[in-house]
Amino acid sequence: MQLIIVLIAAIGAQACQRERSLKSHWHQSHAKRQASNATFPPVLDANEQILLDSFDNTSISTWSYYYTHGAHVAGRNRSMAQWTADRWAEYGFASRLDEYYVFLNYPVSNSLELKYPNGSTFTASLEEAVLEEDETSSYPDRIPVFHGYSFTGNASAEYVYVGSGQRVDFDRLEALGVELEGKIALAKYGGPFRGLKVKNAQEHGMIGAVIFSDPGDDGNLTEAKGVAAYPNGPARNPTSVQRGSVQFLSIYPGDPTTPGYTSKKDSPRADKSNSVPHIPSLPISWLDAQPILEALNGFGTPGAEVNRTNWVGAIPNVNYSTGEGSGATLSLSNIMEDSITPIWNAIGIINGTNQDEVIIVGNHRDAWIVGGAADPNSGSAVLIELSKAFSKLSETGWKPTRTIVLCSWDAEEYGLVGSTEWVEEYLPWLKTAAVSYLNIDVAVSGPVPDLSATPDIHAIASTLMKKVVYPYRGSSDQTMYDVWFEESGEFGVLGSGSDYTSFLHRGIAAIDMGAGGGPLDPIYPYHSNYDSYHWMTTFGDPGFHTHKAIGQFLTLLLYHLASDSALPLEPADYIPELNTYLEELNETIASTNGTLDLSALTSAISTFSTSALEFNDLRESAISSNDSDLLTVTNHKARDFSRGFTSQGGLPGREFFQNLIFAPGLDTGYAPVTFPGITESITFEGDFDLAQEWVGKTADAILVAAGILKT
Ligand SMILES: *[C@@H]1O[C@H](CO)[C@@H](O)[C@H](O)[C@H]1NC(C)=O
Ligand SMILES: *[C@@H]1O[C@H](CO)[C@@H](O)[C@H](O)[C@H]1NC(C)=O
Ligand SMILES: *[C@@H]1O[C@H](CO)[C@@H](O)[C@H](O)[C@H]1NC(C)=O
Ligand SMILES: *[C@@H]1O[C@H](CO)[C@@H](O)[C@H](O)[C@H]1NC(C)=O
Ligand SMILES: *[C@@H]1O[C@H](CO)[C@@H](O)[C@H](O)[C@H]1NC(C)=O
Ligand SMILES: *[C@@H]1O[C@H](CO)[C@@H](O)[C@H](O)[C@H]1NC(C)=O
Ligand SMILES: *[C@@H]1O[C@H](CO)[C@@H](O)[C@H](O)[C@H]1NC(C)=O
Ligand SMILES: *[C@@H]1O[C@H](CO)[C@@H](O)[C@H](O)[C@H]1NC(C)=O
Ligand SMILES: *[C@@H]1O[C@H](CO)[C@@H](O)[C@H](O)[C@H]1NC(C)=O
Ligand SMILES: *[C@@H]1O[C@H](CO)[C@@H](O)[C@H](O)[C@H]1NC(C)=O
Ligand SMILES: *[C@@H]1O[C@H](CO)[C@@H](O)[C@H](O)[C@H]1NC(C)=O
Ligand SMILES: *[C@@H]1O[C@H](CO)[C@@H](O)[C@H](O)[C@H]1NC(C)=O
Ligand SMILES: [Zn+2]
Repeated sequence: MQLIIVLIAAIGAQACQRERSLKSHWHQSHAKRQASNATFPPVLDANEQILLDSFDNTSISTWSYYYTHGAHVAGRNRSMAQWTADRWAEYGFASRLDEYYVFLNYPVSNSLELKYPNGSTFTASLEEAVLEEDETSSYPDRIPVFHGYSFTGNASAEYVYVGSGQRVDFDRLEALGVELEGKIALAKYGGPFRGLKVKNAQEHGMIGAVIFSDPGDDGNLTEAKGVAAYPNGPARNPTSVQRGSVQFLSIYPGDPTTPGYTSKKDSPRADKSNSVPHIPSLPISWLDAQPILEALNGFGTPGAEVNRTNWVGAIPNVNYSTGEGSGATLSLSNIMEDSITPIWNAIGIINGTNQDEVIIVGNHRDAWIVGGAADPNSGSAVLIELSKAFSKLSETGWKPTRTIVLCSWDAEEYGLVGSTEWVEEYLPWLKTAAVSYLNIDVAVSGPVPDLSATPDIHAIASTLMKKVVYPYRGSSDQTMYDVWFEESGEFGVLGSGSDYTSFLHRGIAAIDMGAGGGPLDPIYPYHSNYDSYHWMTTFGDPGFHTHKAIGQFLTLLLYHLASDSALPLEPADYIPELNTYLEELNETIASTNGTLDLSALTSAISTFSTSALEFNDLRESAISSNDSDLLTVTNHKARDFSRGFTSQGGLPGREFFQNLIFAPGLDTGYAPVTFPGITESITFEGDFDLAQEWVGKTADAILVAAGILKT
């Protein structure tokens, strides 16, 4: 059984492992925030003015150009890591490269052939078209289409269309009596993280998986509806392919051979079979998928009768039938080179006067393609511009109160590898000193701001969005807050899909930010060769004005977290959120026949609420008396309380995920689930005894957090 996931066609997603138009907001924050009544243009203090004035769209474009004109798949471009560290050094950060030795694999050769019952064949191209207009689409060292961490092997068999490959899709196929054992799964992108599609296929005895892009995810912006495709227009190029990792992201991110410890050259290596597939897989374009799906027309249950959400896409002449009995077969070959290989995180530091308080800002650098103009290098360009802004401020003699650490992660795309290994290495320091982690991955893939964060960061993020002028659809007389408020006005809950994950699951406050496309904005060619400088300057963000605004916001957030005398984190903002999660849990229970005693959880939330409000009083008196010792006490409480939400042993079956308030859904990979220990014991196991046990553990965690805040 599974909760109903509300899919809203929507705003783009900033997390690079997440997909575009079907972002699932299983949970949004409690309520839309208040409309801004602030004056326009925003009033800034002198330091804010220096920081924001330093931002220049043309220099951002220069950084973007650098990052998008050389192959930089994980572990393959040390010079780009060094270049990043060198820019930060130039702008006053002490910089270095942190190296890890991790398991990665790279494509050697692949093929995919369809054999019709009459013996004739169709060979999939497995290529994205070279476009004259887009210079990096023809680079000789462009990256083949493949799945990171995919299994080396051949598979040849009949195949079944499995929808988006969630557990519920497989349940439906079983209910329809479709034989899966020994077959190849043909799955559509969208919905759960791609690695979980492969995992589900594998767990049903299937021997290979092929995952295709579908214009059905593009709303009205399709060639079939008369919209020209890239490079001539904003629709998806029919040959574009979504590369990506097939790691089992909801079980364990990071190097699969070193679960729970860091990957040094001589680190012992563990069995990786719990977190990567043992059946081969390939990604394909919708053009390659068309004949493969068409061969299933008339066989098995037609898509329209399967009655599963999002089962039927929009590829012409295709019924999205399950396909049993078609007599057509696929031969899939996926040969990868496995290696233990170095990766490089670039790290830049400015020591604060309080070294036991640290703000970390991170963006990954590796991309599946030569470009990566949105994912992730829109964020990388912003981080160079941010370091430049702080160097301007430093010229005035300013020094941060708290230590600032900039991180340019490698190997995020394979499974958050650079950030996870780094957090594993520096965990004792981070647990003591980290105040918050600010993530920027896809800074820009469209114009609509999109933010997800732990509740304690909501207030400061809202305040600072009001200080950034945000160009939007031709007008520039509004703030980022105005645009965000108009388009959503709610913070998302963090699930997984980018480098904040390791921080969040060690109890560190976190935010993930970026801007994506709405339903009428150009289709973002996620993990395709067309996520290029040409696409960005033509469709994604011509003029780099959105880059600039998002960068200014991140810069202000970092500035205030690093220098406000009272740390601007709001523990009390957890109160309404926890109560919302409780109500949702209650609804989940009500939709089943089970019963659960939630009194321990209710009471823990109430204790937390009392402590958080008392904390506010104490902080108020520290501020009004300007008592620096007392401010240190309250700042440390604000820094530390969320550590309480973690449990050493992690969630059932997934030790890595220690945060008991939010986690990526077991079968979604990206989309969050709240009170995950309790909720998933019900929705996945149907085990109310286990759920009751997790009510206790979750309540205890909330009490620990309350205890840290207690005055
Ligand atoms: C803006 O709204 C806040 C509360 O929502 C209020 O305290 C403040 O006075 C208002 N400011 C202006 C300028 O109206
Ligand atoms: C690394 O990236 C830079 C900048 O894009 C590029 O100039 C260089 O050729 C790349 N190196 C390799 C080995 O691909
Ligand atoms: C075999 O079947 C396919 C699909 O129906 C068709 O396109 C093709 O022309 C057929 N080949 C022969 C030789 O009949
Ligand atoms: C797509 O177009 C149809 C017909 O014009 C319209 O009803 C629908 O709302 C549009 N969908 C979106 C997501 O804009
Ligand atoms: C799908 O639902 C429709 C109407 O709800 C029903 O008529 C049909 O039998 C269902 N199809 C299957 C395969 O269960
Ligand atoms: C399957 O698709 C074909 C081509 O689009 C169409 O002619 C046919 O009616 C469809 N069949 C069903 C059962 O939907
Ligand atoms: C796998 O398939 C490829 C491509 O068809 C072929 O070259 C190779 O020999 C096959 N390998 C095995 C072990 O069957
Ligand atoms: C920052 O502080 C650390 C720890 O105290 C020290 O090792 C390092 O040298 C300092 N860096 C700079 C640039 O002052
Ligand atoms: C920066 O913005 C200005 C003003 O809109 C514009 O003329 C210029 O082309 C932009 N620079 C780049 C590199 O896009
Ligand atoms: C859960 O819902 C029931 C009614 O369905 C209500 O009586 C109870 O108070 C609710 N519990 C919580 C913790 O919200
Ligand atoms: C609850 O029990 C009834 C009767 O046994 C059953 O029909 C129904 O499907 C059950 N509902 C759920 C959500 O398990
Ligand atoms: C607060 O105290 C600090 C020294 O601890 C001093 O520098 C600052 O000026 C004081 N601020 C106010 C508003 O009194
Ligand atoms: Zn990314």
